[in-house]
Amino acid sequence: MGSLVRTSRVLVAAGLAAGVLASVGAAAAPAGPGPRYTAGADGAGDAYFPLAGNGGYDVTHYDLDIDYVPPVATVPPTPLSQIRGRLDGVATIDLVARQDLDRFNLDLRGMTVSGLAINGKRATGIEPPADGVEVEGAAYWQVQDDANRRWELTVQPRPKLKAGQPARVVVTYGGETSRPTDIEGALYGWVTTRDGAMVVSEPEGSMTWYPVNDHQRDKASYSFEITVPAGKTAVANGLPAGEPVTADGETTWSWEAPDQQASYLTTASVGDFVRRPVTTSASGVPILDFVDAKITGNALANTNTNLALQARMIDFFESRFGPYPFNSYGSIVDNDSVGYALETQTRPVYSGQASQGTVAHELAHQWLGNAVSPDTWQHIWLNEGWATYASWLWAEENGGTTAQQAFASWYAPARTAAYWALPIGDPGPLGLFATQVYNRGAGTLHALRVKVGDQAFFAATREWLETYDDSTGTTDDFIAVFEEESGQDLSAFFHTWLFAPEKPTTW
Ligand code: ARG
Ligand code: ZN
Repeated sequence: MGSLVRTSRVLVAAGLAAGVLASVGAAAAPAGPGPRYTAGADGAGDAYFPLAGNGGYDVTHYDLDIDYVPPVATVPPTPLSQIRGRLDGVATIDLVARQDLDRFNLDLRGMTVSGLAINGKRATGIEPPADGVEVEGAAYWQVQDDANRRWELTVQPRPKLKAGQPARVVVTYGGETSRPTDIEGALYGWVTTRDGAMVVSEPEGSMTWYPVNDHQRDKASYSFEITVPAGKTAVANGLPAGEPVTADGETTWSWEAPDQQASYLTTASVGDFVRRPVTTSASGVPILDFVDAKITGNALANTNTNLALQARMIDFFESRFGPYPFNSYGSIVDNDSVGYALETQTRPVYSGQASQGTVAHELAHQWLGNAVSPDTWQHIWLNEGWATYASWLWAEENGGTTAQQAFASWYAPARTAAYWALPIGDPGPLGLFATQVYNRGAGTLHALRVKVGDQAFFAATREWLETYDDSTGTTDDFIAVFEEESGQDLSAFFHTWLFAPEKPTTW
């Protein structure tokens, strides 16, 4: 810290001189040694979601203090499309500037900012200024353009931030919550339910509930304090920071998630959950499960059976992939169905019940997707292909269908040409969760395993997980690891499996 401050003092002095020269000299001043303040990009550089995330800084930690009031039950019940909750938050965001910043953006959708301070200095909320218009002093403004899916909160710090300088941004915000949808029209983000909220934000839905650099290229640690009406349970990532505290008819649930985490993997689900007794894996990972009290009958019986397998599943995946990557695990099973499960970090969320294949799938994502995330959304097959393949491995381990049988029954059927036409290595933003990404992705991994042999396949998998731990990787990075480990040229193999718009026949 001390040396960082000293370094930036030197930069200020050099910067003043360079600034004077630049204003006298040419318009296209070269990047000199001193500060050159510009705006951070309004996107993280992901071609599928150009406005997701932002540039110019890295967040190190989010502290989210959220008050949430679920919808009031009415007779007759309000249609789901019209239910509303109320969320009020204070987000304390610690970041480090990665360029000399005149201003920078956060992503925030459907929530209104009522106050913002940067490094303790209050900024003024203003209307978005016209292009090229200079704004005086510390300020912030919001763009909420639903039609173009453009949701940005711009922060103009004064003094400006120098590259390498840490800053703390405190954002006070709030709004009505509803049931947001992704680019495909699927529910995601802070999905208001009758009894609370099911919070599942892949790929860029975290901006519906907190101001965020909403892209996995900028992972951070998190802490949460979620205040809900007494009787409701709020479950987030990581481990509880103490017992819930109830006062004046409200309960505050505190959670700490110290591991690096992508924004789409945050959750803070609220409902009538029953907290189960904590169990542990053989390696000592604590497992904390929360099941909606309204789940009964077969759904409850299946959920109980499958959650009870989690400890053994952790043991099994550790034997294949290496140590479980985070401080805890466990599941949230919500009776309000969003229609899918999500591998939220340390604590997946399930709709209605937790089926065995899905439990294996979401657990495997903790290594493949969460510890190592796709560098951009194009590389989604690395998540879904792997999690699907891991559920094949688990079925075999648990005495069911072997991975070879699962491959054969996926590969054999005649399918429409359209099925084989999707290049899973570049499925497009509307193809992220296409069935082909999942099962052709799993088929790719099985074919790869057979091609390079078990020894090289699992050694390369561990190498991939170690090299890109707490970070992101691309398909090319993945291919390089497998080529290195196997000593084979795999370019034709991966072209056939990931990019050729037809059924693979030779590889
Ligand atoms: N990653 C999740 C899974 O495979 C699916 C998420 C679907 N998300 C969506 N926005 N449709 O378990
Ligand atoms: Zn998945």
